[in-house]
Amino acid sequence: MEQELQRLQEEAQQELAALTEAGQLEDFRIRFLGRKGSFSTIMRSLGTVSAEDRPRLGQLANTVKARIETLFEERQSAISKGLAADADRDQIDLTLPGRRPEIGKLHPVTQIMNEVCSIFEGLGFSVAEGPDVEHDHYNFEALNIPAHHPARDMHDTFYVSDSILLRTHTSPMQARIMEAQQPPLRVIAPGKVYRCDSDITHTPMFHQVEGFLVDKKVSFADLKGVLTVFTRKMFERDLALRFRPSFFPFTEPSAEVDIACVICGGKGCRVCKKTGWLEILGSGMIDPEVFKMVGYDPEVYSGFAFGLGIERIAMLKYGIDDIRLYYENDLRFLSQF
Ligand code: FA5
Repeated sequence: MEQELQRLQEEAQQELAALTEAGQLEDFRIRFLGRKGSFSTIMRSLGTVSAEDRPRLGQLANTVKARIETLFEERQSAISKGLAADADRDQIDLTLPGRRPEIGKLHPVTQIMNEVCSIFEGLGFSVAEGPDVEHDHYNFEALNIPAHHPARDMHDTFYVSDSILLRTHTSPMQARIMEAQQPPLRVIAPGKVYRCDSDITHTPMFHQVEGFLVDKKVSFADLKGVLTVFTRKMFERDLALRFRPSFFPFTEPSAEVDIACVICGGKGCRVCKKTGWLEILGSGMIDPEVFKMVGYDPEVYSGFAFGLGIERIAMLKYGIDDIRLYYENDLRFLSQF
């Protein structure tokens, strides 16, 4: 029995030295130290030895068992340290940059909208917002566009009911504000507008900023001055502006304003339809009929108004030749702004 115990200790020592993985340790423990393992088997023969040898052999057995257990624990800790070192070496490269959480940003149209508003705020305009779902009255009637007026056809309106619609422009805000406040007024009204319209320069939902100024002795020269300052600030250069005679039932005289196409430099491209110019806004002197409907005396007050297309400005500012790109939600496109 004494020899068996010594052989067991040597065997255990050799096997432990050869173990490299945590999974092998458990197998070793069962085979050597488990209830049916080699050590227990030897111990069962302790009952057959003589009474005088039994204390000595019992003590030897305890010493061998304690020795194997110590060797086992030492090997176990060496293996787990080695595994951790391997993991460090193979899986975690501390020199790699961390994974940055993606941070959202404002949509380019929102960025331009904010920029437009802050330029006009700098010129002393205050900001007002109104409803997207509008009464026919404010969208048309109060702007001198009665039922059956041919100008209604230009708007491609989405109707909610006979008298409720999705506003086709931000001009209803002129009527809403003038109805509620007295001149002098200097207001811009940004927001979404809707028209049944879609091609490379038109989308069914787009953004406008309405602007209007009402006071005594306001002239067309004031309108030209404000819009020229605005375009210079917006495009950070002295771009050519063209005031083209036009017609809006709520302004007289009226003008559409074009700026030199910044995509082709005025040479003509698919965005400016080969004209070298791109329309960015409609404008004019507020029609006396509109003043009468809100109770202002057109003999005392005059004013100008304009309605800017924000997507058009965003296209020009960023050199984008298809307005629909703004609404396809392609992050590869949007993340560039
Ligand atoms: C109007 O909407 C007038 N309410 C503007 C106005 C205001 C005139 C105040 C006089 C006084 P118009 O339909 O032209 O006008 O549109 C104004 C601008 O909106 C256009 O110059 C263009 O830049 C933009 N726009 C018009 N339709 C679309 C569309 N479907 N998609 C994108 N932008 C558009």
